[in-house]
Amino acid sequence: MKIFIDTAKIDEIETAFSWGIVDGVTTNPSLIKIAVEELKNKGEKIDIESYIKRILEFTGPYPVSLEVIGTDYESMYKEAKILYEKFNKIANNVVIKIPVNPSCEEKDDFDGLKTIYKLSKEGIPVNVTLIMKVEQAILAAKAGARYVSPFAGRIDDYLRNKIGWRDFKKDAYFPENGIKLNQEIVNDEGIVSGVDLVKKIVDVFNKYNFKTEIIAASIRNSRQVKEIALTGCHIATIPFYVIKEMIVHYKTAEGMRKFISDVVPEYKEIFK
Ligand code: G3P
Repeated sequence: MKIFIDTAKIDEIETAFSWGIVDGVTTNPSLIKIAVEELKNKGEKIDIESYIKRILEFTGPYPVSLEVIGTDYESMYKEAKILYEKFNKIANNVVIKIPVNPSCEEKDDFDGLKTIYKLSKEGIPVNVTLIMKVEQAILAAKAGARYVSPFAGRIDDYLRNKIGWRDFKKDAYFPENGIKLNQEIVNDEGIVSGVDLVKKIVDVFNKYNFKTEIIAASIRNSRQVKEIALTGCHIATIPFYVIKEMIVHYKTAEGMRKFISDVVPEYKEIFK
């Protein structure tokens, strides 16, 4: 499984790359906002365009997803071309993020698919974002997407909300096999968790040998990363704080304390 880092913070990107574990970066307008506001609050003068260039230069040749902001075919296509033409020459690693359905209402809207199809035909790699159901992933793959990004954590949020459970932390674990209410497993059209969504997309794509890669996104904790890895998903895009959680275990720290306390002077001598 490849690991992408889900952040626009350059210091997090650089640090995670220094650990040798990162194969790409995903951003979105919310992540860019967080990164830029943090730097501005520190008094740094930055413009978003040069900031994005810094990310691309550092990350190349590994892919970096940049998202459009429009909600109709004309604007998304135009913005995708601008992003690609402006930024891909830097390190040849730009992937354009397009929402599967750009409507802000719950209604059918095929401008996302139309944009994905057009860009893919032109050889521009597309990462299709905001995938919340298997059916959307199938459509995106058929339209030529290089990647589809199911949002695991947000499905878990949705399922909790469905039963009026609002008091939970963003990084709280949600069981991959779902939660029961009155003997019934809470579900969204048969999907019982974010991990279940990813698993079913993996199953369908494997059945039909789809070439589109699956990026499990909206990951909230390290246990979820493990469950996603077990689905056979190609890529997990992980926030920095979750990567940090992945390395920690009580018994590892305890083992370290014991090894260090057992170092005899003669062993220390070797290193002098
Ligand atoms: O990659 C998508 C991701 O940034 C969304 O994550 O935690 O806001 O649902 P989250």
